[in-house]
Amino acid sequence: MIKKKKMMRIRGFNPLFLRGIDMSNYLRKTRKREHIKYSLLLEKKLHRNNFNDITLLHNCLTQVNIDEIDISTDLNGLKLKNPIIINAMTGGFYEAKIINGELAKIASRLGLAMAVGSQKIALDDPLCASSFQIVRKYNPDGIVFANIGSDASVDDAIKAVEMIKADALQIHLNAPQEIVMREGRKNFKGTLHNIKEIVKNVKVPVIIKEVGFGMAMEEAEILVQNGIKIIDIGGAGGTNFIAIENKRRSTKALMSLQDWGIPTPASLIEVVYRVGNRADIICSGGLKNGLDVAKSIALGAKAAAFAGLFLYILLKRGPLALLRYIIRIKRELMFTMAMSGAKNLTELRKRPVIIEGKTYNWVKNRGISI
Ligand SMILES: Cc1cc2nc3c(=O)[nH]c(=O)nc-3n(C[C@H](O)[C@H](O)[C@H](O)COP(=O)(O)O)c2cc1C
Repeated sequence: MIKKKKMMRIRGFNPLFLRGIDMSNYLRKTRKREHIKYSLLLEKKLHRNNFNDITLLHNCLTQVNIDEIDISTDLNGLKLKNPIIINAMTGGFYEAKIINGELAKIASRLGLAMAVGSQKIALDDPLCASSFQIVRKYNPDGIVFANIGSDASVDDAIKAVEMIKADALQIHLNAPQEIVMREGRKNFKGTLHNIKEIVKNVKVPVIIKEVGFGMAMEEAEILVQNGIKIIDIGGAGGTNFIAIENKRRSTKALMSLQDWGIPTPASLIEVVYRVGNRADIICSGGLKNGLDVAKSIALGAKAAAFAGLFLYILLKRGPLALLRYIIRIKRELMFTMAMSGAKNLTELRKRPVIIEGKTYNWVKNRGISI
């Protein structure tokens, strides 16, 4: 008995191994639960006022009939009825299955594209697959995105797509999160090569996405030169994974790093400026309402994605509240289009925007002619 107690205290030893439980997946599930918990906690205090520096020009002579407005869009040939996307969040455990199911019902009802969270957990443990597959079950004909990390193998990428019969594959870039996460990856060598191999071998379009730290035009250029045709800039100003990982670290939180990243409008302007004519850009990171969607499109995006805020509304107020909220976003987008004289998203993309404040300075400092 004494011997056994001693053994349990050995550093790194976990008795769950003895019961045949895969510890890495067990820890991953715990981490995924914590991400939801801390994202909800942080969301309450978020301002999501990223787009305050951007004004969409009013059109006093609008000739738009609201009933005829067309908000359909396309991402490298992938037809979307609506430019609002439910971005990658979760999967891999019981509560995640419920969340994905509710999000999929809403996506199906409103014709939204939807991404699942990282499928690594289900690639390692097929018992977790149903928490992702539920998205296809509730939305059999909708547009669904699979999701993996940039270190995934080609084989895993193909399996992730097959698992949910995905229409496209998101590969997420999340180096700051991994770096700050105690148990996270610290070696990013080979990322680009890996992405190239996946793009060459999967049969669906690949979307490279950031998770809230943004993309600079230099990296967007490299991605496009390597065959990427859809980019989700995932800018800073919304869900902040350094802040989330800091909450998970009980001691030695790295508070000084919490402002890291490229703010969403700045990242969007950079990336559209450099590669907007060669790739379709999704704007995400800190979006709040339909006006933000309209501004994103006017700045050159083809679609706009939401994550943390949708999760917060779903879990705090319920599925009906989220459904109503997204309907409101769509209405705000359409009203904004009518007020700027745009009857479709192509016309909205041509409407002038005024860029002020910090975003103006950013763009100027980066040598971009406004
Ligand atoms: C709880 C939570 C979990 C997330 N998990 C993933 C993930 O597994 N894969 C991924 O690509 N992005 C993930 N994200 C990032 C989002 O897709 C999105 O890029 C980011 O949250 C920024 O958008 P937001 O400010 O609207 O939340 C997650 C976000 C949240 C809130």
